This record gives sequence, structure tokens and C-alpha cells, in this order.
Amino acid sequence: MCGIVAAAAGKNIVPVLVEGLKKLEYRGYDSAGLAVIAGNGIERVRSVGRVAELEAASADTQAATGIAHTRWATHGVPCERNAHPHVSGSIAVVHNGIIENYESLRNELTAQGYVFTSDTDTESIAHLVQATLKTEPDLLKAVQIACQRLVGAFAIAVIDHNQPGKVIVAREGSPLLLGVSDSGNYAASDASALLQVTRNMVYLENGDIAELTAAKVRITRLDGTPVQRPVHVSQLSAAAVELGNYQHYMQKEIFEQPEALANTLEIVGGSKTIQPGIFGAEAGNLLADVDAILILACGTSSHSGFTARYWLERIAGVPCNVEIASEYRYRTSVPNPRQLIVAISQSGETADTLAALRHAKSLGQTKTLAICNVPESAIVRECALRFITRAGPEIGVASTKAFTTQLAALFLLTLVAAKVKGRLSEEQEATYIHQLRHLPVAVNKVLELEDEIKAWAQRFADKHHALFLGRGRHYPIAMEGALKLKEISYIHAEAYPAGELKHGPLALVDADMPVISIAPNDQLLDKLKSNLKEVQARGGELYVFADADSEIPESDGVHILRLPEHYGELSPILHVIPLQLLSYHVALVKGTDVDKPRNLAKSVTVE
Ligand code: M6R
Repeated sequence: MCGIVAAAAGKNIVPVLVEGLKKLEYRGYDSAGLAVIAGNGIERVRSVGRVAELEAASADTQAATGIAHTRWATHGVPCERNAHPHVSGSIAVVHNGIIENYESLRNELTAQGYVFTSDTDTESIAHLVQATLKTEPDLLKAVQIACQRLVGAFAIAVIDHNQPGKVIVAREGSPLLLGVSDSGNYAASDASALLQVTRNMVYLENGDIAELTAAKVRITRLDGTPVQRPVHVSQLSAAAVELGNYQHYMQKEIFEQPEALANTLEIVGGSKTIQPGIFGAEAGNLLADVDAILILACGTSSHSGFTARYWLERIAGVPCNVEIASEYRYRTSVPNPRQLIVAISQSGETADTLAALRHAKSLGQTKTLAICNVPESAIVRECALRFITRAGPEIGVASTKAFTTQLAALFLLTLVAAKVKGRLSEEQEATYIHQLRHLPVAVNKVLELEDEIKAWAQRFADKHHALFLGRGRHYPIAMEGALKLKEISYIHAEAYPAGELKHGPLALVDADMPVISIAPNDQLLDKLKSNLKEVQARGGELYVFADADSEIPESDGVHILRLPEHYGELSPILHVIPLQLLSYHVALVKGTDVDKPRNLAKSVTVE
């Protein structure tokens, strides 16, 4: 998704803008640009491709006030003409989000004589602000008035070379925060872009607009009413967003999983029991009245939900449904006010998940829980209960450590729900907690399988399709494995519950179709083995992730990799790790852009 950085300081801010954009690269983008207030007007530099190219192109640019942007194309193809900032007369604008009424604005402004040079919705904001300045010369007020005409989601930053030293920023629906310091004031789409200059962050609310100068920050609502927003000291570690010795963020994040899980589970402490309070002070009362659970999420986060469904129904005995957020938000569903709505999201800003959550609440379902990796995010702020996964910043577009920490959080939810419903004995509780605590060690051992997985990856490089099979709580893990492979290696991959094979997908199986199977030693193993025989009989090449004690022999066309430990209910958390590694190494062999796969964005803040 698009990223914004803006600065007003008593020094040259071009390096800050460029460094900030680099920190936002993980969000996904196809072009980048910046505009500054130079001595003789707006100076703009734009480039298609990486921020490094923008950095080279702007090496001679210097200014104390400016805005910058990474663009993820929505309206108009990726090209320099469509890259932000967009300029109209004395002003320049960058924008994240979608302006739904841009066509009518474009017609109106064209009729007034404004000439559009791009295909973007953003350019209409630039001309609208310029047109408003004719009757309202103060930039803050002009942007306030212009914003009131915009329909859709946006975060914007605006500069005017007739009013140097000033940046106006506003948000309605898309994320934007301020970084405040004695030596200058800044704005960005997320905190990681501003850690280079300050830890003091101010999170703007929807409908806020702010004027930044080097010396001060003034925040109002879009109607001009002044507001105060608290300053949060960001706990984000600058090192957490550095690549260190790793080649890619995805690789770093896969290997950070033991630590991410340990941090996430720290909340349980040394105790042998688990308290509802880990989900918020109200959790005990609220959960006691819950008779069902509805999980809302997108992509990888939905796969953690699909896995948890098996746990919640089996261990806690609570009916559980999982819905893809983009479907649920537009579906006519039957609301249940006693149902707990669980919104799962790494970023906490995913537009569809947020809208689905709001839709669920609008139907009178107010018992809500956020499972999220970003404490200050919109989804967390809008839920009654919360559990913050402590995975640390996830930069790679392919979600890895966010997924396993979500699973850990959902298992804790299962235990709390089971306890509240009187379905968990003290002994079972202690055993599960012991297993959870051992997870970081168990994951570490699985990571040691990397060399064997690397060797397997070589055999996938010339494949165009792959099939992932799993059963029970490992079927969603097969779905996650297929998603990982397709998003970073561009190999078409599909996941099926293994029992479904002979109802259609078996027709695809031949020597060219690798079939990846998750085969833990559970009550479905014998059934799964029969399914694998069906593949073998059709000449399919099988890659099986088994447990140490799964009795599946290696043979011609059947490659087996055994996970060191058999992990019972929590086995999905271990079994997803080799699938992440497999995708990563296949992508390396294929030479794709692992951290920024084509067409994808890290944080999907538009519908
Ligand atoms: O931030 P979220 O967890 O809400 O994001 C949801 C999906 O966009 C995300 O999981 C996506 O599917 C990942 N690229 C998968 O690796």
C-alpha cells in the first residue's frame, strides 16, 4: 500500500524523507516521489521502481519542508506521470487511500480550467486544494474545506510554496501518525518511518487534520474544532526493522519465530493456570456470556482463524465460524448478539477486516476481540477486548511470524474459553501451558531442517503448479502453505483437504504436479495415507512433512521429511514452519523479489 512521509524541520529534510520511504518499502509499491519547498517554488522528483533510484535522483535536492510517497497503483498504471506527489500551481499533495468521487471532482475541476496530467484520483485533491485557496488563502483551512468534499478513504500531506515551512496532513480511513520533536515535526503512514528522528508519536484519529511547522503542531477536526491527541512513546525497536545478517526480511522473520512466540506467550508468565484477564479486564464476564465465536480476517490471518476453529470446537466446545472479511461485510447474515466477534490482523489496518468488524458491531454484536500485532491500530482501538501478539514488526509481505503468534494467541483463547465453560481440568490446563512454553524450543528444532528443505526447493523451480494436502486442523496449514508458495514464487498452488482429492483435484495429478502433504501422527494419519496412495498410483511426486513417529516409508516418488517432535494439538504451529521455508527457498531458486512480491502490498488499507 502507499506510504507517506512528511517533514517540517530546521534542517535539510530530504535524507529523512528518503530514509522514511525506505522503511515503508515493505508495504509494497511500484513508484516513489518527493516534493519540497525550494527557493523558487515546488521542486519535485519522481521515479518508477525502487526508492534507491529516487534517492539518487534527489541527491542534489535540499529543503527544510517536504512530502514524500511510495505509490501502489490503484488508479492508473505504474509510471512517472502517475507517481505522487501531484502538483497544482503552488501546491503538492501525496495521498494514501481511494477517493471514490474523484471522477465527478475531475469533471468539475476540468470545467474550471484545471488540466489533469495523470490518471490518478489523487490529482483531483491537488486541484481541489488549489481551487479552494482562491477563496480561503490559509492552507490549513483550505485543506479542511477540500477534505470535506472528499468521499472515500484517505491520508494526505500537502505543501504550498507560497506558505513555506508548513505541512498540512489529514486522515480519514487510512493510517497516519505524527512524530514530534524539538528539532522538527513529521508525519508518516507508520512509526517505523519516523524512528530515525523521534520516538514521540501522535496517532491521528479519523477526521483529524494537523498543521506541522518546525516549531509546533496544531491539530483540529476537519470542521476546525481544535483537539488534543496524546503523545505515545513508541516501543518499536529500530533494530527490529533492520535486516541484520539476513538476506531477506522473510528469512529473518521465519527465524525470529522462536523469540516472537516466547514474547507473545510471556503474558502467561511462570503460572500453571491461565486467566481470562490476558484478553482484557472485562474478558471473564464477557466470555461467560458467549455462546458462539465468529472469526473475521483476510489472507494468512484467516488461516489462523480456520485452524483455531478446530481447537475452539474440540477443546472449548464453543461453536465457531470463520469468515473471509471481504465476504462477510457484504453478506446478509443472521446476527447473534451473544457471539464473540474475533478480528484477526497482523497490521490492524486491513480495510476489509476493519469494515467487517464494524459491520458485525452495527448488527448489535458488540462482544469483540482483536488479535493483532500493532497495539495502536484501528482494529485494536475498535474492539472491546484485545490480545497483542508480540511478533515485532513484520516487514516481508509474506506473513510468517505474525501467523504463528496468532495461532499461539488463539490457542490461549481456546484454553480461556474452555476454562470459562468448565471444560478444562487443572491437569489438562497445566499440560497445555507446558507445551506452549516449550514451543520456542520445538520451533527452533524445526528450523534446523532448513538444509533438507533447501534441497527439496531445487526440484520445484521448473514447476508451474503444486497441490497442498492436509486433514483436520492441518488443512488450514495446507492452505497457508499454498498461499505462501504462490505469493512469493508465483507457482500456482492450491490446497485441498486430502479426503476431497478424489472428488476432482486428482484429475490434475501427474509426474509434473508436486503434491505436498502434511502428515502428522494424529487420528487422521491412516486416512491420509490412503489419500497419498491415490497420488502415488497416478505417478504424482509426493513431498511429505511427517512427524518423527508417523509411519510413512520413503519410496520412489515419496520424499519424507520428519519433524523432530510430535506436538499434538499444537502441531499446526510446527508444521507451518517447513512450508514457510520451502516457499522461501523456492522463491530464491526462482529469483523472485521475496520481500516485495509483484502486485502485492503488506498492509491492504484499501478495499
Ligand atoms: O494485516 P493483516 O493480517 O490483516 O493482513 C491480511 C492479509 O492481507 C495478509 O495476511 C496477506 O494474506 C499476506 N500477504 C499473506 O502472507
